[in-house]
Amino acid sequence: MTVLRTTVPSEKTAQWWRDSIIYQLYVKSFADSDGDGVGDLDGVTAGLDHIARLGVDGIWLNPCYPSPNRDGGYDVADYTRIDGRYGGMPAFERLLAATHDRGLKLLMDLVPNHCSDQHEWFQQALVAAPGSPERDRFIFRDGRGVDGAEPPNNWRSTFGGSAWTRINDDPGDAQWYLHSFDSSQPDFNWQNEQVGQMFDDVLRTWFDRGIDGFRIDVAYAMVKHAELPDLADPAGDNPYLWNQPGVHEIFKRWRKISDSYGRDLTLLGEVWLPPADATDYIRAGELNQVFYFDLLQQPFEAGAFRLSIAETLAGLKGVDGVPTWTLNSHDVHRSVTRYGLVEAEPMNSPDVNALRTRARGPVDVELGTHRAIAATLLVLALPGSVYLYQGEELGLPEVQDLPEDTRQDPIWARSEHAEYGRDGCRVPMPWSASGRSFGFSADDAVSAPWLPQPAWFADFAADRQQDDPDSVLAFYRRALHARQQLDQAADLEWLETGREDVLAFRRGAISCVTVFDGCSFMPPAEWGALVCSSLPAVDAAERWLAAGSTGWYAV
Ligand code: NOJ
Repeated sequence: MTVLRTTVPSEKTAQWWRDSIIYQLYVKSFADSDGDGVGDLDGVTAGLDHIARLGVDGIWLNPCYPSPNRDGGYDVADYTRIDGRYGGMPAFERLLAATHDRGLKLLMDLVPNHCSDQHEWFQQALVAAPGSPERDRFIFRDGRGVDGAEPPNNWRSTFGGSAWTRINDDPGDAQWYLHSFDSSQPDFNWQNEQVGQMFDDVLRTWFDRGIDGFRIDVAYAMVKHAELPDLADPAGDNPYLWNQPGVHEIFKRWRKISDSYGRDLTLLGEVWLPPADATDYIRAGELNQVFYFDLLQQPFEAGAFRLSIAETLAGLKGVDGVPTWTLNSHDVHRSVTRYGLVEAEPMNSPDVNALRTRARGPVDVELGTHRAIAATLLVLALPGSVYLYQGEELGLPEVQDLPEDTRQDPIWARSEHAEYGRDGCRVPMPWSASGRSFGFSADDAVSAPWLPQPAWFADFAADRQQDDPDSVLAFYRRALHARQQLDQAADLEWLETGREDVLAFRRGAISCVTVFDGCSFMPPAEWGALVCSSLPAVDAAERWLAAGSTGWYAV
């Protein structure tokens, strides 16, 4: 294989986020430095060598604020501090300094749609009277029916069950509050200016501390339809809960704050919308970036990938924005499992995203691994930014068979066990093939990992892969370093392959070719020599790309 010139990662400057690769950290599950079975920020600091060696540009921390952890920290009790379980503010300051010392960026997770029921504002609201200013920071309504015993409307929570919870049985105060997710996560009332002001302060607090941006949780949910109307089909999608026009005003306000720092901060929205709608969020003066989750929801098929990429790029014409891609996260089944699923079990979920991203069933791990790394190399060749999720660099499959009594995701209980939820992609990382917790905690740790690791995690341990040039880990390092050669200013031009199962496009000098199916493929000589591939070429001359792999050819 022709070896690409190696370069030292450049110190990214203007609009660094446009083509950056960011490593997502589910802090609880990365590395446990103090033996309590829960990952923490000193564990992340200790793991920065591993992260930096991959060749990424920065990290994003899932929420690590004080929280009762009913929904993995997305139930925030205090937006301005770090939970003691993760090491508190001192550990955060150590991590931020170590991250910046390496030239890496650090993004936090902002959760503005809802807080924890333990947040002081919600506690105040519970003891305040109906109609009080304290209640007005949330979405309280009287119930319907006799004694207000029925919820104010028929909306369902994304996690299952009603989206409303009644605070008590007192007939004088039968109010209910809205929660788009778990009942421990009351939605804020964004029509109340105090909510806006609190979040202005939260943004400034963390920007003043030196972070480089925020990933914004359910960024399209904060504003609801003003009338809170009943749904014709409560089991279907809820158009009144998401993507209301008023939500854009919030981002204009936040963008003024982030721009006022003059240091190139990024605001990245989590928006589960079709590409054209997602692009609305990165119009001038709003968010810098938005996730395009459409690709992640596609099957491993050339036509599906091409359509999703083409729609995303077409929607961006006339917008000074770039796509942000991801194939894995803490909310979806790991890509090895999605792409290697042999037969999906029937699933009874009202959540369309769940149907596409968390199907269960037997998995061909080798097939899934080949496809997952082929998809990764394809995505790395696209214009824009790429987010990786911890453990994908080890090729971890989803842990589908966690013992039922260990499951923690509120989806499991709220769906009355119809849906297993997201614990299987959150199992603590295997660092070593031996040891009680595969190196996640020290061997003399007081507590076992917060979710049990299966015995087969040994096969995926980082130390097994470290020096193996054929490992998934070695692939990720090669691929990310190869990406430094991509001309990020180059447009994407589709290339004819003559086969429906082979997708190819050119960016600058690099032609990216993916063989989704069938048999191996030889690109025309003018596409150049193979410089990086997800599987070895099938011939000694390295022209033939193996079935189920991606290769980059360069002239
Ligand atoms: C999206 C987050 O990624 C997910 O983990 C969380 O459960 C919901 N938002 C609610 O905050």
